[in-house]
Amino acid sequence: MYLGLDLGTSGLKGVVVDAAQKIVAETTAPLTVSRPHDGWSEQSPADWVAAAEAVFAALPTQVRAGVRAIGLSGQMHGATLLDAADNVLRPSILWNDTRAHAEAAKLDADPRFRALTGNIVFPGFTAPKLLWVRAHEPDLYGRVAKVLLPKDYLRLWLTGEHVAEMSDAAGTSWLDTGARDWSEDLLAATGLGRDHMPRLVEGSEVSGRLRPEVAGRFGFAPGVVVAGGAGDNAAAGIGVGVVKAGQAFVSLGTSGVLFAANDGYRPDAATAVHTFCHALPGAWHQMGVILAATDALNWFARLTGASAAELTQSLGALQAPGKTRFLPYLGGERTPLNDAAIRGAFIGLEHATDRDAAVRAVLEGVTFAIRDCRDALAATGTRISRLLAVGGGSRSDYWLKAIATALGTPVQVPVAGDFGGAFGAARLAIMAATGAGAEIATLPAIDRTIDPDSQLSAAFDAGHACYRAARDAIRGLT
Ligand code: XUL
Repeated sequence: MYLGLDLGTSGLKGVVVDAAQKIVAETTAPLTVSRPHDGWSEQSPADWVAAAEAVFAALPTQVRAGVRAIGLSGQMHGATLLDAADNVLRPSILWNDTRAHAEAAKLDADPRFRALTGNIVFPGFTAPKLLWVRAHEPDLYGRVAKVLLPKDYLRLWLTGEHVAEMSDAAGTSWLDTGARDWSEDLLAATGLGRDHMPRLVEGSEVSGRLRPEVAGRFGFAPGVVVAGGAGDNAAAGIGVGVVKAGQAFVSLGTSGVLFAANDGYRPDAATAVHTFCHALPGAWHQMGVILAATDALNWFARLTGASAAELTQSLGALQAPGKTRFLPYLGGERTPLNDAAIRGAFIGLEHATDRDAAVRAVLEGVTFAIRDCRDALAATGTRISRLLAVGGGSRSDYWLKAIATALGTPVQVPVAGDFGGAFGAARLAIMAATGAGAEIATLPAIDRTIDPDSQLSAAFDAGHACYRAARDAIRGLT
């Protein structure tokens, strides 16, 4: 059996599959985010370990005893800072933390960053966070011996080794993404060197073995292999079989992602599209990333005191966008804006705006932001003809119909089951343990295809045009 662990922002999920990739067990432990100041987003690495312990403890004893390999998936970009004895120096600064926007702009102005990484240096990426720590917490910065991404901190706990893999490393702004190696020039630009970085492996390679202490405590067999794994989006790509050019998925998680596999390394940083290594050797992908997808719906749910499921279940058939527009920029935006300062808005409220109308506006706002990602990908030459849907938001057919209609692209919903990061990580565990390759990352069986509503296409085009105009009007207001 093979265990995939996905260290998400709102929880750590474990999925165990057998050799035929049938799900044998799954369990989740919740995580919370601390936002001590506007634009900040942090988690304590000790909470990640506690969540992993809870996930292990919740798996049946005989399942744990049968696990042969573990794969890791996780939220990307987080800066987890360790001293020379591997003590955690401060809470990890997460992917949706934009405090380092000035430092990001400074690094981005150095042409070597876009040239070597293939990406804008976004505030949420790892390198600018280190410059922020150098400026604001200089004593602490002086003690930094290793910088790890979130799932690689879990790996350290599991194996005792400092190892990263290509897909997540590509989101640090320190990787030469085409060469699949750390860039010493880019590291030096933030006062660091190769010694501060973990060793690199491919996602499907062995990164280490479970420490006897962890194995003994939880009843795993000795010598369990830990695969390189992947950043959560590349892991989801492996999970839904999006590994070849022409294949794509939309992920509606805390963040929203429009992900396309590519036939080679095709960077185009100016579009604000992310171009990263995929989790398989010699493979790359592109994606547009928005910072709040289900995060926007959950924000509105907290405001109204109803759950996200309650809010979406009474919406009925897809309607043309009404007068109310929602801009989902609760913590700034990446694709296509690269704007850490922009904030969200409701516009076009009227006496008749009831809860359902406001919920539709929230779902439409995220949908239009995904359409912006599609347009940014198209500007690089990447075309998407059909899409798989993953993530918690894909439980809402209303939302998927809106996305299909706004993009003019059919959206396929996999049969029930988890095809996200944890499942992809389990597939990478199989690859590392058995030597299997991309051929096992097959497409899932499709439960249903949600086609665009051609009657509403023009109304969604008009809604998107209005959304963009509203966005341009509020930029710089906050
Ligand atoms: C990708 C990104 C997010 C996180 C969320 O660039 O920042 O999708 O990986 O987990």
